[in-house]
Amino acid sequence: MCGIVGYIGTKKAYPILIKGLQRLEYRGYDSAGVAMISDSGDLNVYKAKGKVDNLTEFCSDKDISGSVGIAHTRWATHGEPSARNAHPHYSSTHNLAIIHNGIIENYATIKAKLQTKGVEFKSDTDTEVLVQLVEYVMVKKNLTLLEAVQVALHQVIGAYAIAIVDKRDPRQIIAARKQSPLVVGIGEDEFFLGSDASPIIDYTDKVVYLEDGNIAVIRLGEELRVMSILGEEQELNVKTVDIDLGQIEKGGYNHFMLKEIFEQPECLKNCMRGRINVEGNHVTLSAMIDYRQQLLSAKRIVIVACGTSWHAGLIGKQLFESLCRIPCEVEYASEFRYRNPVVTKDDVVIAISQSGETADTLAAIQLAKEQGAFIYGICNAIGSSIPRATDTGTYIHVGPEIGVASTKAFTGQVTVLSMLALCLASERGTISEEQYKEMVKELTLIPEKQEQALKTNEQIERLAPIFTYAKNCLYLGRGYNYPLALEGALKLKEISYIHAEGYPAAEMKHGPIALIDSEMPVFVIATRDRLYEKVISNIQEVRARGGRVTALVTEGDTQIQKFADHIITLPDTLECFQPLIASIPLQLLAYHIAVCKGKDVDRPRNLAKSVTVE
Ligand code: M6R
Repeated sequence: MCGIVGYIGTKKAYPILIKGLQRLEYRGYDSAGVAMISDSGDLNVYKAKGKVDNLTEFCSDKDISGSVGIAHTRWATHGEPSARNAHPHYSSTHNLAIIHNGIIENYATIKAKLQTKGVEFKSDTDTEVLVQLVEYVMVKKNLTLLEAVQVALHQVIGAYAIAIVDKRDPRQIIAARKQSPLVVGIGEDEFFLGSDASPIIDYTDKVVYLEDGNIAVIRLGEELRVMSILGEEQELNVKTVDIDLGQIEKGGYNHFMLKEIFEQPECLKNCMRGRINVEGNHVTLSAMIDYRQQLLSAKRIVIVACGTSWHAGLIGKQLFESLCRIPCEVEYASEFRYRNPVVTKDDVVIAISQSGETADTLAAIQLAKEQGAFIYGICNAIGSSIPRATDTGTYIHVGPEIGVASTKAFTGQVTVLSMLALCLASERGTISEEQYKEMVKELTLIPEKQEQALKTNEQIERLAPIFTYAKNCLYLGRGYNYPLALEGALKLKEISYIHAEGYPAAEMKHGPIALIDSEMPVFVIATRDRLYEKVISNIQEVRARGGRVTALVTEGDTQIQKFADHIITLPDTLECFQPLIASIPLQLLAYHIAVCKGKDVDRPRNLAKSVTVE
């Protein structure tokens, strides 16, 4: 989390840095700050608590001149959100300024040592320790900035993407990364830095994704140099990025989240494009061609993920088990990595992550790799760390997701899991050719059906005010719809701050039923499937306790309306694809309830889009 931007060139740095921060605000917005070497050679650092707008207001009467600078938007880890703890941080002499994304785990030890040498600290952050250490070794050993950064990084344990400027050398920025993403953009007589490519793409499409343990020496008028911490020069791997700017603007919607909900039919078409042959009703995944043997010989699949990606994984489990007859376990990456799990070389581990940067998921991959498992990534952000750490994988291709609450990535992940399960099932012969073709065909119809589901938007907007006063909500579903109940509850919690729980509908009577009264809205996913009649009984159980039921039903349903307070009607599809459709009204419900409550939908409190700390 935390967003990093940098610029060095001939243009004014400030507007480029601010625009970059606005693009990266999804990574954190506890505070924002900028450090620029002014035209008169001063190193000015300006910081403000809260969002980037607060920073621009603060800077309105300041000297914002200069063509070199670094900027940061923070998601707090060490030290409360405040201007004091905001980045950039000065070194004691105010010659250096640093920005950092990550966590320096041994910061307390280093800080204590530096304090015994007389270094005074101004913040509670781990980051300030790094800049003070760099300055300390620079002075003590008479080193250049680059040499001092190398020495300092050798001493720190943890994760970082950093950028440092030195006012005595305004033609240079030193940047480095370990486990936190960092991209360098290469323009004409100018360079850019970003936690991802979004702050860069307005100016150049030539980028270098810095590898773990590498340092970038960015000097005006010279070629970009990349080297290891030990100083070994690395070959430059310049890539061309292809991100459509329109994709990261709001495009007429009030919020990114709403835009991303509405984009889903198009996103899923992109996700299936080139992979599903519509005429032949056939799925081809390049990973299945290149790694057929490894994938087909899997004795077990283990899915590791966090948050919404974990919910997608729960749907994947049902697909792999019922269609492919492969045992599958779904693990929270954060638990998996610390509990000494049994993983063998016969396992295929699937890591699911929208951002491709989630620290816990990356660590889980590392652990599984060490045990010899074959690793498959399902990610959205192209070139991010997880796709680079896996043996193979499939991008979901839903475009940049900016809203902190994940929407289109979820349906993209479920679509890729469905395609993978269909490929494996067909190759393993665990479903008939006829069933395979019917399922592939149905999958291609999902975007159209999502369009229909999106038509519920107005109805949901009208319903939303009823739920704004709720303190708690319950989401119920069974089978494939149970993970969806969890996902619906997570969406509501994240953006409206209403407590919500997702439960398997039949499990409700083993506890949560005690909570039900007329104050507790209950959302039931009651689409027509094998468990439909049973879900009706569960609805009756809620009604009998005075609960108010809003049910998601399949078109043509005439039963549930008799006892539900509200029904939302959805197009029919195969049971296993229902989450791809029913997720839409649940996303819309959370969205409209949060809007009615006046919440900041795209930037909910305490959250960050990409969780690059554990
Ligand atoms: O980028 P990832 O998919 O790895 O992120 C995992 C979770 O942090 C993420 O899904 C989070 O739960 C979202 N805010 C959910 O809307």
